[in-house]
This record gives sequence, structure tokens and C-alpha cells, in this order.
Amino acid sequence: ANAETVARLRGMFSLPADRLQQIVKQILVDMKKGLEKDGAANIKMLPTHVTRRPSGKEKGTYLALDLGGTNFRVCEIILDGAGGSTMHQSKFVIDEAAKTGDGTALFDFIADCVKAFLGEYHKDQDVEAVKWKLGFTFSFPVDQWTINSGSLLIWTKGFTATNVVGKDVVALLKSAFERKNLNIDVTALVNDTTGTLMSLAYSKPDTYVGVILGTGSNCAYVEKIENVIKYKGPREGVKEMLINMEWGGFDDDMVVIPRNKYDLKLDRESANPGSYTFEQLISGMYLGEIVRLVLVDLVKTGELFSYSAGGSPELRTKYAFETAYMSRIERDYSYQLMETKTILEEHLNIPETTLADRKLVKAICEMVGLRSARLAAAGVAAVVTKINKLGAPGVTVGIDGSLFLLYPHYQNRMRDALREIVGISAENILLEKSQDGSGTGAALIACLAGK
Ligand code: BG6
Ligand code: GLC
Repeated sequence: ANAETVARLRGMFSLPADRLQQIVKQILVDMKKGLEKDGAANIKMLPTHVTRRPSGKEKGTYLALDLGGTNFRVCEIILDGAGGSTMHQSKFVIDEAAKTGDGTALFDFIADCVKAFLGEYHKDQDVEAVKWKLGFTFSFPVDQWTINSGSLLIWTKGFTATNVVGKDVVALLKSAFERKNLNIDVTALVNDTTGTLMSLAYSKPDTYVGVILGTGSNCAYVEKIENVIKYKGPREGVKEMLINMEWGGFDDDMVVIPRNKYDLKLDRESANPGSYTFEQLISGMYLGEIVRLVLVDLVKTGELFSYSAGGSPELRTKYAFETAYMSRIERDYSYQLMETKTILEEHLNIPETTLADRKLVKAICEMVGLRSARLAAAGVAAVVTKINKLGAPGVTVGIDGSLFLLYPHYQNRMRDALREIVGISAENILLEKSQDGSGTGAALIACLAGK
């Protein structure tokens, strides 16, 4: 019975190479449309106003904020002028109430964190008397007007705070700083993908692409300015611009990307139904929930956990099954899958499982994790194709985020899929970790903007 169940589910989750190639083509069509006109495509292709990659000589001390990943961070970065940097940082948890409550309270919380950070690291200074320079990494889709202003188009990743959509997020941040008597110049507004690209490019000049595979998923890359048809700003002396794709928004009404009943249910019950459906298939915020929806269904059909009939209230709780558990289960090679047993017991309150149950749970995690990596690879293949870097000497893709860094086999699965999609050219695509890029990247952009 297990084999039949697995085969049926594989049919729903697998993406063969020819399918991935079709997806690449469709992403390329959308990218081109998105560059022509606002709103013309699901992939927003947002101009970042970043028109230079770093030379490696940038120097100075900057504050950076990083909002939108697992942690909210306040950082201070010292760029050494030789491609290197040092940083210290504090991490803060943004709780559900802050994510979904009043927008002003969210920005006040951010300003409080900055104040606490400065109080800790600059005890000997009158913090309110210094004029600080800051790069704001705000990892959501922003219609950017200038390098340090722009309005939030739509929240993603479960944020729904009120009175922020449509507003200039830098203005909101500045008002919060003023309310807290902080004298801070916000010189750059940055997406995490842009920051990731810039920070790796500081030491590796052949970096043209930055990708996030974490709570959310997205990509930024370097585009020729003549291809950014919709850009209305000054073009003189400008050769290239970083584009924040917002690839999480890619959607082709299921023509080439199959979405099964679990994906559709996840979408229907999400904070923003119908939007960011590509991200739902890829990113860490959603993978565990897809697995949970499959488990709940299999309990109903009697194919799983027959010794714990009906499952448990925990199993029926939305988002109770975290992607981090999938990581641990995929890494479980123990006799009898004992780690998997522990997770099912402790986190889903299912004490009685058979080895067959646990094998099935592991197989489901593998299908969902594999599909994510293969779709991410399709995205990377599309972007590298778009910028004509499939040939030698190739290109470096800077990647950050908990999935890429922590999920077992993820990197190899991406590399395998790239080989299936573009063949031997995959050798020319270097996927490289660009850890904690947002802080350094934001500092670099703040520095370049100040010139
Ligand atoms: C962090 C970056 O390292 O990774 C953030 O500083 C980014 O800007 C984050 O958003 C993405 O990963 P995760 O897993 O925290 O969402
Ligand atoms: C979401 C955001 C995007 C961000 C990505 C990764 O897709 O909309 O701006 O880059 O998550 O954090």
C-alpha cells in the first residue's frame, strides 16, 4: 500500500527535466514583459536604482537594518576599502503581533531595537548627538522611486501590518527614528537579494546574480540599462542596473508549473491568496506546511498513522510542521528512522508510528524538498540565460537563506537540476554562499549612494 501511495504522490510532486525547461522559457518571457511595463507580468522586475557593482575599494562605517528573514537584525559594518569588512550585530525576534498588527508599532519596535543596539555598542557616546548613516534592507516588493525611497507594493511571507502598503517605507522608518530622538540618515533602501549580490561582488567581481532561498525566495541580477525599458530615471552614464525580480510572484495559471491539491489549499488559506504562488512551492515558510497538508490527507484516507487514528490536534494545526523538521527527517539515516519517530512524537504528538509510516513521511519530505530545489534551479537557469552567461568563463551566483545553507542535499539537488536543464553549461554556473550579505550589501549600497 505504501508503494502505491508513494507513486501517486510522486506523480503530483515530480518535475522532469523537460518540464523544468518549459518553466525556464516561461520565466524568460515574463522577465522580458516585466522589464517593459509595470504590471505587465507576474514577475515584477523592479528597478533598484543600484547602477554600479562595488569596486572593492568602498570604505566607511555604516549601520544596516535587515527586516524580512528569520531574524530582524541591526548591524554595524566597517568596510575596509580592500574587499573586506567586519560587522557586529544584534538579532531580534519579530513576533506575530508585530508582523500582523499596526504598522506604526512595527516601525517603533524597529527604532527601539536600533536605540538598544547603539546603547550597547556605543556606551561611551551620546548616541542621540551623532549623525548615523544607515542602509535599510527591507525584503519585500517595493516600487523604488530613488535609491532611498519607495512604496511597499504588497506584503509577503505572512506580514500584514496595517498602513504600510502604498507608503514610503523609508519615510515611515524616519518618523519612527524621530519619535525616538535618533538622528539617522537612511541613505539606501535595499532588497535582501540585492544586498546578497553586492556583498559577494565586493570580493568576487564575476557575481551577477543574488538569490535568497530562506523564509521567502527571490532573485536580483545585473541587467543592461537599455533592456530596462520601463525605467524612468536618469540614464546618462548608466550602463547597468540591478533588478529585483520578485520571482516569488511568478505564476502562469498552472500552464507549465503543475500545482497539486495541497499547493492550492495552502494558497487558499494563506495571508495573500493567489499571490506569490511560486514562492509557496519553493521557500522555507511553506514547505513544512505542504508536507503537513499531505499528512493530514493521508490520515483521512487511512494510509498513514493507523495506530493513531484521527492523527492529533497538533497535526491539524496550521503551520505546526516546520521546514526545520523536514531538514532533520531528510537527514535521518538511523536504524528504524528514530529521529523521525522523535519528531512525530514530540512535535506532532503522534506516539504510535510504524516504520512504514516513518518511511512514508520521509519520502514526502523528500518530494517536497526536491521540488523546491528544482524550481529554484529553473529560476537560476532562466536568469543566467537572460544575461548570456551560460558560456565560459561563467558567472557566480551568490546565495543566502536557511534553505540553501541548512537543508540537506539542497545544493546538490540544485546542481543536478541545473545540469539537466542546461547540460554541460552548468559547469559555468557557480552557486556560492553569500552569508549575511544583507548587512554588508546594504552598507555598500549606502556607501555608493553617498558618493
Ligand atoms: C539573511 C539575510 O542572512 O538571510 C537576510 O541577512 C535574508 O537579509 C535572510 O532575508 C534569508 O534567509 P532566512 O532563512 O532568514 O529567511
Ligand atoms: C519575498 C519578498 C522578497 C524577498 C524574498 C526573500 O519574496 O517579497 O522581496 O527578497 O521574500 O526574502
